[in-house]
Amino acid sequence: MHNYRKITEDLYWVGGNDRRLELFENIFPLSKGVSYNAYLLMDEKTVLLDTADAAISRQFLENVTAALNGRSLDYLIVNHMEPDHCALIEDLLLRYPELKIIGNAKTFPLINQFYDLETEGKTVTVKEGDSLNFGRHTLHFVMAPMVHWPEVMMTYDETDKILFSADAFGTFGALNGNLFNDEIDFDRDWLDEARRYYTNIVGKYGMQVQNVLKKAAGLDILMLCPLHGPIWRNNLSYILDKYNTWSKYEPEEKGVMIAAASMYGNTENMAEIFASMLAEAGVKNICFHNISKTHVSELISDTFKYSHIVLAAPTYNNGIYPLMDNYLEDMKALAVQNRTFAVLGNGSWAPQSAKLIESKLGEMKNIRLITENFAVKSALKTEHTQLLKELAEKIAEELK
Ligand code: FEO
Repeated sequence: MHNYRKITEDLYWVGGNDRRLELFENIFPLSKGVSYNAYLLMDEKTVLLDTADAAISRQFLENVTAALNGRSLDYLIVNHMEPDHCALIEDLLLRYPELKIIGNAKTFPLINQFYDLETEGKTVTVKEGDSLNFGRHTLHFVMAPMVHWPEVMMTYDETDKILFSADAFGTFGALNGNLFNDEIDFDRDWLDEARRYYTNIVGKYGMQVQNVLKKAAGLDILMLCPLHGPIWRNNLSYILDKYNTWSKYEPEEKGVMIAAASMYGNTENMAEIFASMLAEAGVKNICFHNISKTHVSELISDTFKYSHIVLAAPTYNNGIYPLMDNYLEDMKALAVQNRTFAVLGNGSWAPQSAKLIESKLGEMKNIRLITENFAVKSALKTEHTQLLKELAEKIAEELK
């Protein structure tokens, strides 16, 4: 049975939710599922903006068929060629043989790479600034390369002032029936997943996101329609400001994130004592992760969120504890920068972890270290506590 939603007089949401998928991209846990949004414009011509993931093919096709209400589909705009949005192009071509596909010069080679489709005579290539008229609506195409794939573009409806923003402004999380941001408490219920989505999927491409935000600033936008998560139809500055902060790699909050790795609890004990010292020094905004329990995508999300990061880890095989090393590599890959780090190391006979972690942090941009090879042997002892207390007080002072 179809389950589409009306957005405006002639625009419909025809996407669907997946609450079965365990791992998005086979990497990121989806405790709250994910939505794949697609939009159908019913003008003199019918225009579909993107398809969906194969996992929701039945729901998507039922929605498109029902919303078309007996009409044929004239155009498909492919804003993004990642398979969570383009898996059903062939199904549409089979159902609507006259269908024309609108994309840019980088879209069509990707279609041919992913799929064996006969697209000869069925494509319309657009470039930056091009517009196409479909009746009442004129759609204008805005290229958004590397946000987060090279072919990504956004489509701006000049008539109703709607920006179809591809993955940008999207989030993990299935829709619960409410489709619009003004029907939900985004800050309470969605922000953490939106940040985890942005930082892990798009985080590396801050400069490209900044370029798109500059283009968006030149458009009069009343509604943002992303490919995942809720549609924004008021308070747009909220999500635009978050994107501006995240893409400039600026901390969202003054506070401390502690990421502790521990084999037998001794390094974690040191980190816990340090957390208490921070609290006693007056720090209120502290978050603590045992990195063996917390998925690295959440660690990355909080690394983007907080101004000060404390990494505590033992030495392992004369190197960095593997899960901490993986987290550091992810930070590097996602271009983490502009943060203050303190490193608490441990090692029973040759403590190397602090030195090695600090060296890796040194490879990242604008990282400030406020420790230098602080390491305990096996467990924290009284002789180290004064140094830790001073470090906690220094951080508390900086957070005032
Ligand atoms: Fe939601 Fe980049 O795909």
